[in-house]
Amino acid sequence: MVVLVTGANGQLGQSIQFIAHKYPNIQFVYTDYQEMDITNFENCQSVFAVHKPQFCINTAAYTAVDKAESEVEKAHLINAVGPENLAKVCKEFDTVLLHISTDFIFDGTSTSLSMTNGYKETDIPNPQSVYGQTKLDGELAIQNNWEKYFIVRTSWVYSQFANNFMKTMLRLASERDTLSVVHDQIGTPTNAVDLAEVLLKIIQSCHAELVSVSPNNFGVYNFSNEGICSWYDFAKEIFQQNAISINLNPIPTEAYPTPASRPAYSVLDKTKIKKVFHIEIKEWKDSLKECLTQLKR
Ligand SMILES: NC(=O)c1ccc[n+]([C@@H]2O[C@H](COP(=O)([O-])OP(=O)(O)OC[C@H]3O[C@@H](n4cnc5c(N)ncnc54)[C@H](OP(=O)(O)O)[C@@H]3O)[C@@H](O)[C@H]2O)c1
Repeated sequence: MVVLVTGANGQLGQSIQFIAHKYPNIQFVYTDYQEMDITNFENCQSVFAVHKPQFCINTAAYTAVDKAESEVEKAHLINAVGPENLAKVCKEFDTVLLHISTDFIFDGTSTSLSMTNGYKETDIPNPQSVYGQTKLDGELAIQNNWEKYFIVRTSWVYSQFANNFMKTMLRLASERDTLSVVHDQIGTPTNAVDLAEVLLKIIQSCHAELVSVSPNNFGVYNFSNEGICSWYDFAKEIFQQNAISINLNPIPTEAYPTPASRPAYSVLDKTKIKKVFHIEIKEWKDSLKECLTQLKR
């Protein structure tokens, strides 16, 4: 079975490469800009023609959330036109498309949600940032062009690879005695390696027909680690697990203004993905521990 991965140099792309050895029945084809620019339709067509993948995992994205506010066209091209190109090419080659989306498609303002397990796949999106809007446009472009897709929405992705919040906190702790982190944005961290495992589990399930590849199973799914925290809690746990002593101050969002506004509450309800694919999800603190262990190796 051939699985083509886009954006392979990013943190999710590298996480897939990190666990690929566990899937000897899969022949992975890794591509980033140089091999396959998802914004170039003909480029995608010619790469698909060579490899004829049964599955394509699109991890390629424009992920600079704040910069997107001033680079609207570029963000739209990569996050919306790119997925549209892939959906069309996947249709041409009868390839199942797995695409990653984000909690930033929600506005995070619903107070009633805090009483539940979080946003469901069926909740109405209302992005508050250019990044969130372009990611939603990407979801819609896929849905309008190809029926064999899995869109997996996730949140607060970190890993031992590339740049992310966890690595930023560790770097800042080595430079400063005091740090302030927002305490009123609530969500769930996601170890990219756990996300990679789930994507490959979906592929294996489909391939083995454990989950029949029917229109009922294609669609939108949520995935993050288990548990709920604020960015402040996340930072505190990173420092605790590393035995780093630092003055950590909880601050409100107003005290840390950013070009893009972020959802105040973006916990994702994972009931659907757990039920359909029979997966168990790790608690975020346990997964963080595993990630930090890998980072120290
Ligand atoms: N990071 C998060 O906290 C987070 C949260 C929720 C959802 N997500 C979603 O999860 C997915 C994976 O995120 P990530 O953190 O792994 O992102 P990432 O580290 O930024 O990786 C994205 C990769 O895509 C590449 N890329 C950009 N434009 C491309 C193009 N036109 N053609 C081919 N490759 C291109 C990037 O290359 P360059 O680096 O050279 O630009 C990079 O290697 C994305 O869909 C993202 O929106 C992420």
